This record gives sequence, C-alpha cells and structure tokens, in this order.
Amino acid sequence: MTPVENRQAIVLAVVNRKGGVGKTTTAVNLAHGLSRKLIRRVSSADIDKVSEPDHLYQYLGKHYFLGGHVLVIDFDAQGHCAQALGIDPRGADVGEVLLGRQHLSQAVITADRAESGYPRPNLWLLPASDNLERAKENLYSQSLTYFMDGFKNRDEWLSQVLEKRLHLARERFTYIILDCAPGLDSFAHAVHKFAGMAIVPVKPDYLSMSATRQNTDHIQSMQLRGVDIQIHTIVPTFYIPRQRLDQEMIAELRAKHGDLVGEPIPRSQLAAEAPADQETIFEIDPYRRNPATIAYQNLVDRVYYG
Ligand SMILES: Nc1ncnc2c1ncn2[C@@H]1O[C@H](COP(=O)(O)OP(=O)(O)OP(=O)(O)O)[C@@H](O)[C@H]1O
Ligand SMILES: [Mg+2]
Repeated sequence: MTPVENRQAIVLAVVNRKGGVGKTTTAVNLAHGLSRKLIRRVSSADIDKVSEPDHLYQYLGKHYFLGGHVLVIDFDAQGHCAQALGIDPRGADVGEVLLGRQHLSQAVITADRAESGYPRPNLWLLPASDNLERAKENLYSQSLTYFMDGFKNRDEWLSQVLEKRLHLARERFTYIILDCAPGLDSFAHAVHKFAGMAIVPVKPDYLSMSATRQNTDHIQSMQLRGVDIQIHTIVPTFYIPRQRLDQEMIAELRAKHGDLVGEPIPRSQLAAEAPADQETIFEIDPYRRNPATIAYQNLVDRVYYG
C-alpha cells in the first residue's frame, strides 16, 4: 500500500437495499477494471526514465507502472468479495478495524494472485466476516451514549467512527469501492455517508412485475429511500435484451433518471461463473467477447473518465 497521489480517493458505494441484484459482482468487477486502468506498460528502454521506481511492477519479464491503487471494502458479513477474488483474509477483518482492534494497514490485504496467473498488483481488499455483525452490535450499543461524545444523534456518532477508522484509506487509494450489504439500517447510512456517491444495481425482474410508471417510483421509494448520497450511476443488471419487460423497464428508468442510467449488464453465465472460478469478468474473458464483459468495461470507463 504505497501512497501514489496527493489527492483524495473517489469513494463509490455499491448499494441497493434489495439482495441478490448484483452488488458484489458489480463492486468486484468495477474495482478490478479501475485498477487495470491505472496500470501502464513501460518499455524496457524507458524503465530508467521512470521517476518513481517503487511504482514499477514486473510480470512475466515485462514492466508496468502503477499510477494508483484501488481498495474494495467489504461491508457485507457474507464476506463474498474475498471468495470472488480467491484470496484468504487470514484474519484481516473490517469489523476489527471499526472496533479499533486492527489497524487499517494490517487489515488491508493484497488481491494480487500473480503466482496463479492473476496479476492484480494495485487491487486491495479490506475483507469482512461474520464478525462484522458482532462489531455492528457492539458499535450500536456504544452509540447509545452519542450525546456524551457531543453528537446530535446515533447516525452521526456511527459516521464519525467510520471516518476515524477508515479515513487513512482516502489518502492512500485512487478509488475505494464499497460493497454494501442489502438493507438500510443506521450502519448502512454511515457507509453511504462515507462514500458520498452511489452505484445502484437494479434487477429488472424485480421491477418488471408491472410494466407501469410505478416501477420507477418503486426504485425511488423502495431502493433509493434513505440513501442520502448522490447517485453516480443506476446499473440495470441481469438484463435480457430480447425480453420485452426488461426493455420497457430500461426505457422507464431512462425516462425518469435520464443519463444517470448506465448501460445494462446482460444476464450471463460467465458473470455467474467467474466468482466460482475466483476470477473477475476481465480475467475469465480477457478478450472481452462476452456482452457482460463489454458492459462492465463501459461502466469502468464511465467512472474513470467521469
Ligand atoms: N450479469 C449476471 N448474469 C448472471 N448472473 C449474475 C450476474 N451478475 C451477478 N450474477 C450472479 O447472481 C448472484 C447474485 O449476485 P451478487 O452476489 O453480485 O448480488 P448481491 O446484490 O451482492 O447479493 P447480496 O444482496 O446477497 O449481497 C451471484 O450468484 C452472481 O454470480
Ligand atoms: Mg453481495
């Protein structure tokens, strides 16, 4: 974890109060895609000209310059991010960091698996485990006395805990991607506040129960309510292009949210299989032949180029 730039990280929370809509898949692929954007090939003739040699990375005899680092913070006790990336957390745990029992620098682990053929030199993970639920309970009980610490309410107290324990990451990384758990409790509010911007995966099946105007109202009231952060992109997931209801839903979403709606991610066997193979979509499909890989690359570009 080397400081690369002086500017603060762009922090994006992947949120939806509904489960199983593709949050973790989107968080992991977006993070890996962004980390790839920050890597530049350096020809052997130019190696000596690199002013920051500690940012050089060597893989299979070739040299690369790391222009920044990306951190995934898993805020879901299911701990799916480590599994999807094929890394062993070895006790590193976001719950312990929030309770002040592990320092951030101990708990952030590399996602690099160059030895298995998956070089990810600038991708990092702060993993979660069941312990996160216990940590949350602990923080909730501590937050009962928020007024003694001079805070207006419990939400504010929780927010300052996240900021205190995690703020260092803002200085060390170029991007921080938060994989959120479904639901909208006080802890989720604090996570959203830490991010400031949200990527919202939306599954058409759920919404296309009735292809009416109510669909998009549902999104606002059921999915975005309480998310007091700016929406960066609404990402329709599990999209089946030939399905009329899916098309109608995308049209409804665009009518209501305009350019906030990103390119839909097609439903794809590859996207489902990649985590089981402990690969990201860019690793399982390196030549980007699958429409889901292309769509995730477009999401990466949308975030990267702004
Ligand atoms: N585009 C896709 N096509 C097919 N399957 C997908 C796609 N995206 C995700 N999946 C699969 O759908 C399941 C749910 O996805 P994911 O775990 O990303 O959702 P989630 O919103 O994080 O769920 P949870 O709320 O439980 O955390 C996973 O098995 C995943 O591999
Ligand atoms: Mg998830």
